[in-house]
Amino acid sequence: MRIALASSEVVGFAKTGGLADVVGSLPPALEKLGHQAAVFLPLYNSVRQKVALQATPHRLRVLVGDEWVEGGIQQAKIPGSQVPVYLIENPALFERDNAAFGRGIYQFASSDGWKKDYPDNSARYLFFCRAVLQALPLLNFWPEVLHCNDWQTGLIPVLLKKQFASADNQELAEKYRRIRTLMTIHNIAYQGNFWKEDMNMCRLDWRLFNPSGVEFNDCLSFLKAGMVFADRLNTVSPTYAKEIQTPYFGCGLQGVLLERSADLSGIVNGIDYQSWNPATDPELPAHFDALLIDPGKAACKEALQKEFHLPVDPRAPLAGMVARLVEQKGLELIAEAGGRLLATGMQFVVLGEGDSRYHLALENLRREFPSQVALQFGFNEGLAHRIEAGADLFLMPSLYEPSGLNQLYSMRYGALPLVRGTGGLADTVTDTKEKTLANGTATGFRFQAYSPEALVETLQRALSLYRNHPATWRQVQINAMKQDWSWERSAREYQDLYLQMANSLH
Ligand code: ADP
Ligand code: GLC
Repeated sequence: MRIALASSEVVGFAKTGGLADVVGSLPPALEKLGHQAAVFLPLYNSVRQKVALQATPHRLRVLVGDEWVEGGIQQAKIPGSQVPVYLIENPALFERDNAAFGRGIYQFASSDGWKKDYPDNSARYLFFCRAVLQALPLLNFWPEVLHCNDWQTGLIPVLLKKQFASADNQELAEKYRRIRTLMTIHNIAYQGNFWKEDMNMCRLDWRLFNPSGVEFNDCLSFLKAGMVFADRLNTVSPTYAKEIQTPYFGCGLQGVLLERSADLSGIVNGIDYQSWNPATDPELPAHFDALLIDPGKAACKEALQKEFHLPVDPRAPLAGMVARLVEQKGLELIAEAGGRLLATGMQFVVLGEGDSRYHLALENLRREFPSQVALQFGFNEGLAHRIEAGADLFLMPSLYEPSGLNQLYSMRYGALPLVRGTGGLADTVTDTKEKTLANGTATGFRFQAYSPEALVETLQRALSLYRNHPATWRQVQINAMKQDWSWERSAREYQDLYLQMANSLH
């Protein structure tokens, strides 16, 4: 099959979260299964700075409102594969990001210190969606399935069905009509809802502006447009697929999903076993695997304690956290339970950036427990690897978690995940209990109630195992490290879904 993936992030090119890892790993895994995959991504400044680009002769002229906006297509490859990444070029729209000035790919730091969305995000991603569809004939690449990811690509299905598939050129229109679209929801809380007048900029028929079309709370919703017009929907774990059909998790869009539940499925993300391999990871000071955890992991822990200026103590339990510091990741619980968590004597290392109120809460905790808490605000991929390798425990008390990759990285690196049982966390981490210890399935620690008490109790339970039963702890580490969460498994599930979609043509 030919599969095109459209995404606003790809690891190695531009990344703010797990979406980038998924779109960086799934296409090469599909290629290994014998399919032809191609990726579309905006050409951001960060991409221009770090990726070797190859020019193509193709020029784009894209309608945004009544205006023709020019663009180009550059090309690169996903490292370690033949998968092409087609980069949609328009410097004014996409090359404004610059970390040194607090400008990201979606947001900028305003003078009051808060992160704000760029005011023209709807125009930026409308341009991208149209450009992807216009690029197909230029590249002569006609996919059976066009796989869209998150709100930034949500307009593709509606533009395809309502505009491109009814183009004047019959032959071209027929080619567009044969494409099936999949909309993957990585996080339903991010919806891309804009001022309704943007309907004109998108040149969408106002008759579509109603609750069973692209309207959501009197706004034009890019994500809802994708959810209504894509042929199939999926999300990144079976549990999250169920959760988002309920009012609490659905963020207002549960009705659309309930209506389309027959077209909705959940596939847990895999992880890249090459770049996340504790036996070979070039970011680590020492190496290890499930057959021989120490001395490698112990050396990583010692190096991490030194890197963060914490007391070097092999027996002090060390908990790590690497996350966007936002409510989703359970930061409210950490802030509320902080004192009680640290009263256990554990060391706590956090890497992340996000809402300033959580930066403040964590700084207060560091002030109160200076010999136990170490923080690094910012984005640092190498350090993320070293934390997974050096930590004994990895905290992920998420409020909700569509799939989550960090718990998978931590299992692979023998840092036992301590998670709340929601979304992908519920589907991937098995709580340590008498029964799961006996049958060898225990891989971490899980709690359910979103409360500081439940978090503290679970941490105490984990630390009691760590301190009093080191042989059992080691066994759980081995169980966790032996799990198979490689992309091959997830890619096969995507392959089956794509096949069903392609076959629905005939
Ligand atoms: P989400 O996509 O919701 O942020 P995931 O667990 O799916 O959550 O993926 C997060 C990804 O981003 C992981 O690869 C994680 O290591 C990475 N990450 C998050 N914050 C940072 C950071 N500050 N520095 C380095 N990597 C980070
Ligand atoms: C989202 C979710 C995360 C998921 C990632 C990739 O950012 O928050 O749970 O792993 O997308 O699918």
